[in-house]
Amino acid sequence: MAASPETARSSTVGSSTGGSAGLDSGIEFEIHPSQARVPAAERERALEAPGFGEVFTDHMITLRWSAERGWHDGRLEPYGPFSLDPATTVFHYGQELFEGMKAYRAGSGEVVLFRPRDNAARFNAGCRRMAMPELPEAAFLRAVELLVSTDKDWIPSGEGNSLYLRPFMIATQRGLGVNHPSSEFLFCVIASPAGAYFGATTAVKVWLSEDYTRAAPGGTGAVKCGGNYAAAFAAQQQAAANGCDQVVWLDAASHEWVEEMGGMNLCFVYGSGSSARIVTPALSGTLLPGITRDSLLRLAPTLGIPATEGRISVPEWRDGCASGEITEVFACGTAAVITPVGSVLGASGGWTIGSGAPGPVSMRLRSELIGIQYGQRPDPFGWLHKVA
Ligand code: PLP
Ligand code: COI
Repeated sequence: MAASPETARSSTVGSSTGGSAGLDSGIEFEIHPSQARVPAAERERALEAPGFGEVFTDHMITLRWSAERGWHDGRLEPYGPFSLDPATTVFHYGQELFEGMKAYRAGSGEVVLFRPRDNAARFNAGCRRMAMPELPEAAFLRAVELLVSTDKDWIPSGEGNSLYLRPFMIATQRGLGVNHPSSEFLFCVIASPAGAYFGATTAVKVWLSEDYTRAAPGGTGAVKCGGNYAAAFAAQQQAAANGCDQVVWLDAASHEWVEEMGGMNLCFVYGSGSSARIVTPALSGTLLPGITRDSLLRLAPTLGIPATEGRISVPEWRDGCASGEITEVFACGTAAVITPVGSVLGASGGWTIGSGAPGPVSMRLRSELIGIQYGQRPDPFGWLHKVA
């Protein structure tokens, strides 16, 4: 018979440098430790070259919501499969939302999260768009902290390595009716040791998607719902068939304006040396408000690199590279960190950006951002949130 479990209340008192102390959602998590943890030697082997999203830690968080009971049944439990009825809403209508964030082992040995409250806020913005119940910020933070602190031995060390966290929520009501949102949901957090999403510092080749569209005004482009990514696979296959690594999405109406990539935002570097500046497509409602993007908009000016939001058309991109006005382009996101873009290809041809190799502005911003995330540089914005 199972021993009566401990509980962990979703109060973050005293555990944060990010300012969530004192919040208490009243949501509790029962602790059910795994009795079959991965043996240490096997775990260490997995951490040597973690890849991305292939190996998962010993535990996960689950928390349920129903129209009658609100949030209930929070648990830290062994990682494992769910059993769901084939008529569960998420399988048919895709009512689902996810987040992506990382825990880092800072030089001091502390474990930190990067701007987790921003993930909580974006998750709740997504919940509103997807007609899903919002999760109190304190419960979101507590869930993530509990999983990270329990499975902290899974955080790989080494430059660029981290523990990737994937909070997500699925609609679990049984039935095929589509007249109303699900009346039941499951929130879950899983964790996966992660290395570089792309080979650390090589430049990627991108494919301009001129026939497919990722997001249209009024749609779901600004939220992290699974459907956005499902609808992108065909274009990703097209990119791969053309020898490209990633898709660049353009605006739905004219396919002229650059929006973002499949799992990361884009930044354009104009000029070089002391006159370099960066421009990223403005949030128009159709692209994801990336936390890395926002961090760079705030960090770059402190390094003497002006940063603005703007509109960049495909002809401006091509001509700017030809004239030398645009010197570098990079993708940015939690998984991708900062990934230089070396060349562009579309149905009507392609071009090289700068020399085609990672440029100095991209690499400087990358090392400054990573320096903050790993606690190697001062954190003037208070972005780090201490876990353990
Ligand atoms: N754009 C899309 C479509 C994404 O999936 C992501 C990744 O989360 C991003 C941009 C970058 O967002 P963030 O920097 O918050 O990871
Ligand atoms: C992230 O960077 O967290 C993402 O979600 C990108 C991708 C793996 C979907």
